[in-house]
Amino acid sequence: MRILIIGGGGREHALAWKLAQSPKVQILAAPGNPGIARVGTCLPADRAQNLEADLTVVGPEAPLVDGIVDSFRARGLAIVGPNREAAQLEGSKIFAKNFLTQRQIPTAEFVTVENAGEARRALDRFGLPVVLKADGLAAGKGVVIAQDRDEFEAALATLKGRLVIEEFLRGEEVSFIALCDGRDVVPLAPTQDHKAVFDGDAGPNTGGMGAYCDSAILSEAQTHAILDRIIYPTVEATAFTGFLYAGLMMTTDGPKVLEFNVRLGDPETQPLMHRMASDFVPALQAAAHGELRGVKLEWRPAPSVCVVLASGGYPGAFPTGKPITGIEAAEATGATVFQAGTRSGPEGLETSGGRVLGVTARGENLAAAIDGAYRALREIHFDGMHYRRDIGRKGLERYNGKTVGT
Ligand code: AMP
Ligand code: GLY
Repeated sequence: MRILIIGGGGREHALAWKLAQSPKVQILAAPGNPGIARVGTCLPADRAQNLEADLTVVGPEAPLVDGIVDSFRARGLAIVGPNREAAQLEGSKIFAKNFLTQRQIPTAEFVTVENAGEARRALDRFGLPVVLKADGLAAGKGVVIAQDRDEFEAALATLKGRLVIEEFLRGEEVSFIALCDGRDVVPLAPTQDHKAVFDGDAGPNTGGMGAYCDSAILSEAQTHAILDRIIYPTVEATAFTGFLYAGLMMTTDGPKVLEFNVRLGDPETQPLMHRMASDFVPALQAAAHGELRGVKLEWRPAPSVCVVLASGGYPGAFPTGKPITGIEAAEATGATVFQAGTRSGPEGLETSGGRVLGVTARGENLAAAIDGAYRALREIHFDGMHYRRDIGRKGLERYNGKTVGT
């Protein structure tokens, strides 16, 4: 069968790598990237609309918000993703917050503001720190956590249009992703992202500098609470199809929604695909055909870790076209290197984006998985490359060094 993957980042490479391991599958990607070209055929982005693949899986949010699922379904094609209306859960923060409140799904207290005066009144209500969110899609740059009044005013000056101002929540952040068919739900294993650019969660937010996947991130009771209070009510209310990604804060009052995404996470997908033991293709087909009931996904006990290697300057301005070396040597250590911001240049592989590679490894416990990823990435070089050195450390603190995952 022919599976079309829409997108061309690290998430899509991980998905392509996993689906290509399924028997009798041919991978097509639009536009894909040089990593995906190792396991499938890459086509120009505008070819996607004219292909009649047996199944299409959409990576990024923009085509979902634009209604790609509606148009593929209108042509009778099987596709994994939400329709345009449900994609508003990610496309508009105001829509998502109003939805959460109406359905009494736990989330931070908030107000919607139209101007600076209203925003300052909201600050008086919530106090500092406070969170400001631009309404529309902003590629990870639409959220500011203001620690003091100056940062608050600076954020007001840069964020455009209507804003959500909300209470600052404390706790541990978890990415909880579920595959949905409009009624039934198959949760993926829990993951944790690392959004800030520098070690210790310092510096501005990025799209994600690394993630790990480990069943120990959530207890069974926490997983049940998330499904009962957040995922099922959302799927029921929206007849949600595709990947529902709840960005959660695990607070002392239970899980609360920070944001919804309507797709797989990037980089969460990299450790997820690395750890998934089941063939993913039957589950995706079931999701596209409304037949998820009874489907289960199996996970390897070994945790997995993905460390993102970013271009110098990212998440600010960065140069491109820097030659990349050492991927083969890194993979010879047993890791898998997923490509995100890469392209083929005159002298071989070179950088083309902010997040360039995702070095991903498993280990018998989280510490071993972390070691595996960092040992592998020592082999890789490109000019200006930087990465966080503490991916997964919060997870290690959770077990105080005990072996887990068996
Ligand atoms: P979002 O795009 O809404 O997930 O926001 C990006 C990041 O900002 C999240 O991953 C959190 O780290 C942080 N964040 C967002 N909302 C809040 C909040 N209400 N309290 C604390 N941190 C938040
Ligand atoms: N890693 C966060 C996201 O995919 O939005």
